[in-house]
Amino acid sequence: MKTMHAIVFQEEKNFDSLQIREAPYPEPQPGEAVVRIRAAALNRRDVWITQGRYPNVRVPLILGSDGAGIVEQVGEGVDPKWLGQAVIINPALDWGNDPRVQQSGFRILGVPDDGTQAEYVRVPARNLWSRPEYLTFEEAAALPLGGLTGYRALFTRGQLAAGETVLITGVGGGVAALMLQMALAAGAAALVTSASDDKIQRAVQAGAKGGANYRTEGWEQEILRLAGDTGVDLIIDSAGGEGFDKLIEIVKPGGRIVLFGITAGRFSRISLNKVYWRQISILGTTMGSEADFAQMVQFFQTQHIKPAIDGVYPFSRFREAYQRMMQGEQFGKIVLAPDFD
Ligand SMILES: NC(=O)c1ccc[n+]([C@@H]2O[C@H](COP(=O)([O-])OP(=O)(O)OC[C@H]3O[C@@H](n4cnc5c(N)ncnc54)[C@H](OP(=O)(O)O)[C@@H]3O)[C@@H](O)[C@H]2O)c1
Repeated sequence: MKTMHAIVFQEEKNFDSLQIREAPYPEPQPGEAVVRIRAAALNRRDVWITQGRYPNVRVPLILGSDGAGIVEQVGEGVDPKWLGQAVIINPALDWGNDPRVQQSGFRILGVPDDGTQAEYVRVPARNLWSRPEYLTFEEAAALPLGGLTGYRALFTRGQLAAGETVLITGVGGGVAALMLQMALAAGAAALVTSASDDKIQRAVQAGAKGGANYRTEGWEQEILRLAGDTGVDLIIDSAGGEGFDKLIEIVKPGGRIVLFGITAGRFSRISLNKVYWRQISILGTTMGSEADFAQMVQFFQTQHIKPAIDGVYPFSRFREAYQRMMQGEQFGKIVLAPDFD
């Protein structure tokens, strides 16, 4: 049997069971392609899967939703022009035909399907996209999941327009850092929050108007002061939890709040009276459709944006990469590059 190297998660809820192992080579089925991975990026979900915070995890499993590489093999019915092409992978599998919401068979690459933290990954050929030429493999691998989620949150759902002010919470996060880049490129003014003053400074250097530390008492007043008379039109949040109620006070009347994660908790008491009296729209979003992915890649290309990368680690040092994310030290995407013999 043909084999490959991969980072294999072998025992549920046991991070230490994540190890580099031999795994079966993923032979392509009809309509699929096999990509030789040149770079993969981490997402919060990878960490949470190792901690048992995701349903339907069956081991052994190869994690990883973000990948860029070279097409090695194509299955029956796939255009052979893909062979040898440099690609990025859209990790949204089987979204379906409704741009408003994913269909019931929707999955994210990396659970339950084996993901990108391997020498090779097998994906539907329709999820292949040519790698934007101005990006290295490492930069390209930083784009798919975060870029897709952030693009849909900001534009498809949030309807961010040039000249508006957007607040991006937890700017050090992989998706958040990409959203900051996209919002600025779209001509919006961006405010940020973070647990780290250093990260706020980095965001300001990148073009944000200002920020506040969400661990500091009264941070919401600071955001309102920075927003000035125009106020905050749109908030994009992936923290949720009890802090969510503050967002309802920050956003201006008639404004929008888009939520795509619950890093700080899945429950929140919110002041419902403020939601209706202030005419606030609270919108949920997850990943994105094929059209969102196409528009996101096009947007990065047109604007020539290089995704914010925190660091690149060889696969053999994957533990350090995961631990950096667990400790929340990163600013931007954490990327893995294969160094298998
Ligand atoms: N629905 C979807 O399609 C989708 C897609 C991608 C991600 N997500 C979810 O979105 C979240 C972020 O994902 P990611 O991959 O970008 O993770 P990440 O890189 O680990 O970023 C998480 C960031 O959240 C911030 N944070 C933590 N506690 C916070 C709080 N109380 N208030 C505000 N910010 C807080 C931190 O920012 P600072 O370091 O700046 O403090 C941290 O860096 C996760 O919950 C993930 O599961 C959902």
